[in-house]
Amino acid sequence: MKILSLEHEGYRNLSPGTVYPDAGINVICGYNAQGKTNLLEALWLFTGAHSFRGAKDGELTAFSKESGEKQAFSRLNLTFLSGGREQEAQITIRGGRRSLRLNGVDKRSCGALAGVFCAVIFSPEHLSLVKDGPANRRNFLDGALCQLHPAYVKTVNQYNRILMQRNALLKDIVRHRELIDTIDIWDERLASFGAQIISERLRYVEKLLPRAKNAYSGISSGREVLDLVYRSGISCADSSYEALRACLREKLHASMKDDIRMGSTSCGPHRDDLDLLIGGISARSFGSQGQQRSAVLALKLSETDLLGEACGEEPVILLDDVLSELDESRQDYLLNHLKGRQVFITCCSPEHTRLLNRGKIFSILQGRVSQQTV
Ligand SMILES: Nc1ncnc2c1ncn2[C@@H]1O[C@H](COP(=O)(O)OP(=O)(O)OP(=O)(O)O)[C@@H](O)[C@H]1O
Ligand SMILES: [Mg+2]
Repeated sequence: MKILSLEHEGYRNLSPGTVYPDAGINVICGYNAQGKTNLLEALWLFTGAHSFRGAKDGELTAFSKESGEKQAFSRLNLTFLSGGREQEAQITIRGGRRSLRLNGVDKRSCGALAGVFCAVIFSPEHLSLVKDGPANRRNFLDGALCQLHPAYVKTVNQYNRILMQRNALLKDIVRHRELIDTIDIWDERLASFGAQIISERLRYVEKLLPRAKNAYSGISSGREVLDLVYRSGISCADSSYEALRACLREKLHASMKDDIRMGSTSCGPHRDDLDLLIGGISARSFGSQGQQRSAVLALKLSETDLLGEACGEEPVILLDDVLSELDESRQDYLLNHLKGRQVFITCCSPEHTRLLNRGKIFSILQGRVSQQTV
């Protein structure tokens, strides 16, 4: 997967223009608030997903800071190599609605881009993956699995629906004890979907681990070791689906009294976590800022590997503001050792571009993008 050009007009604060990136590393350098993240966001939209900043489509269309007046539309045109041929996608945002034209054909939704163009984004918000609670890490695993196996979305939705129903029942049982006999039916179903989720996550972590270890070793020049451990509330010697289902079923039964008292379900994949360990100790509790950033990067890069293997194309890597807090050898790894992939990496200081061996540097000032000589 390689981006050949991005033409942009009326998008956020970006002045109309066309960017012709390098097939390898592209550094986008500029002071704060000049439009670096806006440029990455424009590229990201071609994955078919929503803005990684959670912005609504209407907010993407440029407005004038002086008059507040809004442009009638935004238009982004991407040419890229995918599936062994050159392709062209055009996204238009008008009246807060997004439309897509792919290789000259109007499509009903931007979802048509899924699998045609793929990218992975790392932005400072992703640091919550290591810094915050387990929900972020479960979302990371589930998000990655949904991209790999669309059927997984259904399993997660069904599990969540049954979980809500079981929790509602737990609260009802306090007033209507006779309902206790009906909980078995929900436990049976919850165990069956829950075991599917746990077994998919375990398999994913198993594949992720060697790649994440390798990426982390590269980032830290072999000085530190990263480990990933999936922590499940159910202890099960065997990780087959049947064994997990039986263990979860048993645990649900054993914790029923406590669950009724609490009014919620205390075990299952919605309570699991993914531990990130650096040198055997928790990155969340003890990692330095640079180590935490490196661990998230390693996770993101290994997610990229697995996505690339599944879709037969190396996804484009978008790295927003990763270089700060990393020492020179870690910066060097990102700038010079991500071979064979197209990378866009933003930074605030021209100092960071000093380490770049090959690639293109773009500077961005008040939304105007210009290419520098390396
Ligand atoms: N729809 C819009 N129209 C016009 N300007 C916008 C729009 N949306 C955002 N902006 C402006 O774009 C500017 C640049 O935003 P961006 O987040 O890309 O900056 P950045 O270069 O990544 O800065 P930082 O280094 O602080 O992350 C902001 O000052 C913001 O006000
Ligand atoms: Mg930014």
